[in-house]
Amino acid sequence: MRVTVIGTGYVGTVTGVCLAYLGHQVTCVDTDDKKIARLQQHDIPIYEPGLTELLALAEKSGGIDFRTDLAAAVAESDVIFIAVGTPPLPTGEANLSYLESAARSTGAAMDASRYRVVVNKSTVPVGCGNLVETLIREGIRDGNPWKEREIGFGVASNPEFLREGSAIGDSLYPDRIVVGAQEERTIKVLKDLYQPLVKQQFDPPSFCPRPAGFPKAVPVVTTTLTSAEMIKYAANAFLAMKIGFANEMANICEKVGADAPEVMTGIGLDSRIGISFLNAGIGWGGSCFGKDVQSLMHIAGDYGYQARLLEASLAVNRLQRQLVIQKLQEKLYILKGRTIGLLGLAFKPNTDDLRDAPSLQIIERLLQMGARVRAFDPIAMDACREQYGHLKITYCDSAMSAAEDADAIVLVTEWPEFRDLDLGLVSKQMAQSILVDGRNLFDPAAARIAGFDYCGIGRSENLRGNGKRGAAPRVASV
Ligand SMILES: NC(=O)c1ccc[n+]([C@@H]2O[C@H](COP(=O)([O-])OP(=O)(O)OC[C@H]3O[C@@H](n4cnc5c(N)ncnc54)[C@H](O)[C@@H]3O)[C@@H](O)[C@H]2O)c1
Repeated sequence: MRVTVIGTGYVGTVTGVCLAYLGHQVTCVDTDDKKIARLQQHDIPIYEPGLTELLALAEKSGGIDFRTDLAAAVAESDVIFIAVGTPPLPTGEANLSYLESAARSTGAAMDASRYRVVVNKSTVPVGCGNLVETLIREGIRDGNPWKEREIGFGVASNPEFLREGSAIGDSLYPDRIVVGAQEERTIKVLKDLYQPLVKQQFDPPSFCPRPAGFPKAVPVVTTTLTSAEMIKYAANAFLAMKIGFANEMANICEKVGADAPEVMTGIGLDSRIGISFLNAGIGWGGSCFGKDVQSLMHIAGDYGYQARLLEASLAVNRLQRQLVIQKLQEKLYILKGRTIGLLGLAFKPNTDDLRDAPSLQIIERLLQMGARVRAFDPIAMDACREQYGHLKITYCDSAMSAAEDADAIVLVTEWPEFRDLDLGLVSKQMAQSILVDGRNLFDPAAARIAGFDYCGIGRSENLRGNGKRGAAPRVASV
């Protein structure tokens, strides 16, 4: 099929490249001409593992191009995906201006040559499917020589569940595909579009093999527009709450002398709970959880419902981010004039995305308190320099260098390469060997042998290190 993807951010670029790899002919459109110019040179503006390689394969498969001319792309397309940003407004509501503009322009570019499906992939408040339809109709009326009734189109909601850092695998091997629409005809177009994905009728790229035991058919959930929109919000709210729950349990573990990772393993092996998203740490970040939970709270509020669980989930996360400062104060007392080395800036590993990253809040607080900040991130440092130039950070070219003369280091992002650090060597670089492990990445015993005063999140080892209480009983190897 001929497909247009509007918005070449994390979602749009990955969606476009994957659809082209599956054999569709894709045009990706953005209003940002600098981004498009880079993409035309095969220079992908975001960091996403495997995307450059898949782009090269996609060009040979269905074919993909990048343009700023939305009208020309829409005119030639059967399916138009809207994948523009829906960032939060100061009130917590979603900013729909990009979505509205994309929908209106799509309508204005339509003619009667074919039936088109406009698919909303952006995460939007419930009811936006109807809004998109209205705006497309307005766009059609705005100076379009075609009469509205002559132009056939359907609107669908197809929420995106990819995770930055593993977006290619998430897109090629999804747990499910959700399609919401009013008309059967609209749903049929999307089922046809996704047929190669649903039936897994493609050769997996060598750098992203099909997971062992992956099902022969991907489940497709077909539903109404409203339910599809709600599925996305409910999924993100649940995941944010699950991490928040692990964090709250970790905080209690720390008080009573239990070990959070062991406790979470103990509950996660229960098939009703599941082990993923139970890692305690210094809180979630990223462009989605915070904005989507807030937006869902607003929607609930519009209907006179106070979403207390969602409110608590945000509150727990806010508190969790303050833990780093609290733990540094417990170890160092005074932060003024201290040097703190941060390992990681991105909100999670394998991405350069800094939106709502805990690192930023930690840095701001440390600087306010008069500390000096040295930082190393394998990928996100350029983005940080560019987007947060006002933060006075000394950027370092390695983790080792970030630790140089530091009074403490803080593991903020669990990049896999940090796991392999020679902690003995790291501690030798430092003025004081204090390690705040914000993601429970390191083995506390190994960190201690390396000379560190180690402090994780919800770990009974915190207590052992201080010699305050006896060792907690350990579970058999799991
Ligand atoms: N990033 C994720 O991991 C993720 C996962 C699932 C869902 N989502 C949702 O997907 C949507 C997109 O997220 P993202 O992270 O890709 O955003 P992004 O900010 O990285 O990209 C959005 C792009 O849209 C472009 N744009 C804005 N208005 C436009 C217009 N009128 N015409 C053409 N291009 C336009 C912007 O220039 C930008 O390049 C959001 O609603 C987000 O909540 C994101």
